Amino acid sequence: MNKQNEITSKELLEQQYYIEQLKQENEKYFALTGRRKTFLCETWGCQANENDSEKMAGILESIGYVTSPSRQEADIIIFNTCLIRENAELKVYGHLGELSHLKKMNPDLLICICGCMMQKKEVRDLIKEKYRYVDLVFGTHNFYKLPELIFDRRQTKKMMIDVWDDGRDIIEGVPTKRNSDYKALVNITYGCNNFCTYCVVPYTRGREKSREPMDIIKEVTELGQNNCKEITFLGQNVNSYGKTLDKEFVFADLLRKANEIEGIERIRFMTSHPKDLSDELIYAIRDCGKVCKHVHLPIQSGSNNVLKVMNRKYTREDYLILVEKLRKEIPNIAITTDIIVGFPGETEEDFEDTLSLVKEVKFDSAFTFLYSIREGTPAAKMELQIDDDIKSDRFKRLLNILNPIVHENSLKLENTVQKVLVEEINKIDDSMLSGRNESGKSIHFKGDKSLIGKIVDVKVDSVNTWSLQGSVVNNG
Ligand code: SAH
Ligand code: SF4
Ligand code: F3S
Repeated sequence: MNKQNEITSKELLEQQYYIEQLKQENEKYFALTGRRKTFLCETWGCQANENDSEKMAGILESIGYVTSPSRQEADIIIFNTCLIRENAELKVYGHLGELSHLKKMNPDLLICICGCMMQKKEVRDLIKEKYRYVDLVFGTHNFYKLPELIFDRRQTKKMMIDVWDDGRDIIEGVPTKRNSDYKALVNITYGCNNFCTYCVVPYTRGREKSREPMDIIKEVTELGQNNCKEITFLGQNVNSYGKTLDKEFVFADLLRKANEIEGIERIRFMTSHPKDLSDELIYAIRDCGKVCKHVHLPIQSGSNNVLKVMNRKYTREDYLILVEKLRKEIPNIAITTDIIVGFPGETEEDFEDTLSLVKEVKFDSAFTFLYSIREGTPAAKMELQIDDDIKSDRFKRLLNILNPIVHENSLKLENTVQKVLVEEINKIDDSMLSGRNESGKSIHFKGDKSLIGKIVDVKVDSVNTWSLQGSVVNNG
């Protein structure tokens, strides 16, 4: 027996009944009106949410819905929400408010709200009380039940709420409509067991579970056969992949296996927790030609006091040793990070430790966040919450140190040739294309749109802090 319940196509088979029913209705509607019913899924938060939205889109397409270009034209609107920081949460209420007039104009519009925010009872209560025009509320563990929920909502005129505290199983085989044909997100674990004291993810995503290697390899193989060039393995901590499996199979094994898959040219992964990035994994990154020489290694704080209270389970010294090891084995590896400023109890001295660590490591890039109180996490109850003024001041000082370092690292790329996966026509100037180099930096260059989806050599002509400009030297 598996340590975790293997899924069970049973749940998906149950959905098949509702899929067929809804599909028939949608076909009838199309025959009568010549119009296909449409949906719009708006996603906040991290790649875990993005991937869930791709699956919901896949499910809806299998029922006969097509993507809507706007909220006004949509028959179903789904908001997939994030709870990680307060501003992520507040944004959603603003957008939800905007939907009330759409619902008045079109009472048949189905408004669904799901994702991490819905895992919190207080949020659900607020939706019930203030946003009564919402039709469906569901959580992160049961979005695959969308057909059943839509079907049931048709029978009742009341708001339906279906949220589970934790995932019962891993659901395999949900159809996915990916946002890109050339790059794909591939979940390898769900949930998180780390309980960093500031973070809501263990509460919104439940306990950590690993997908079976065979299921992952099958998914990647199919992607390779379908012209996908780049995959990103997703997990809140990819390093702990395999812990819930029966057979010994670790993340380094998965990278080595994926490296052999035909068609796939680039393998990325995120996130790697500094507490358990093994030597084995460093060697796998070094040895596997397709694995991008980039690790996103969130430090959060440079102070041992703060790291301890955050429950991060590594010290500043451990982190620096890890960086040294990575750079020794893989000399040009890009290292990026996440930093939180103003964690409860952070003293000026603690903050200066973060600044000095940033100077020492010289990150290639970093996401910086003001600490945000999240009710229900241990840090929310800690004394010595930091004043907003102090937080903002420290944030500015951090950027003053960080930005020149990132810029300096970018300058090193000037006149080099970078391998770039061409992703899209540039959003601002449509004579330009945009893509990313191996370390994930955006690069913009002139070129024909036939290059989209290819990996091409681009010479870097000029450099901004967060992006590069270049010209194609080879058409791949
Ligand atoms: N699992 C990943 C991170 C997921 S959340 C990891 O452990 O690295 C992404 C980032 O959001 C975190 O790395 C952290 O820097 C930030 N974050 C999480 N909770 C936060 C909070 N309460 N306030 C501010 N930033 C937070
Ligand atoms: Fe949150 Fe920590 Fe888990 Fe990352 S490892 S998701 S920061 S609890
Ligand atoms: Fe947000 Fe949930 Fe991801 S809280 S960051 S969408 S796991």
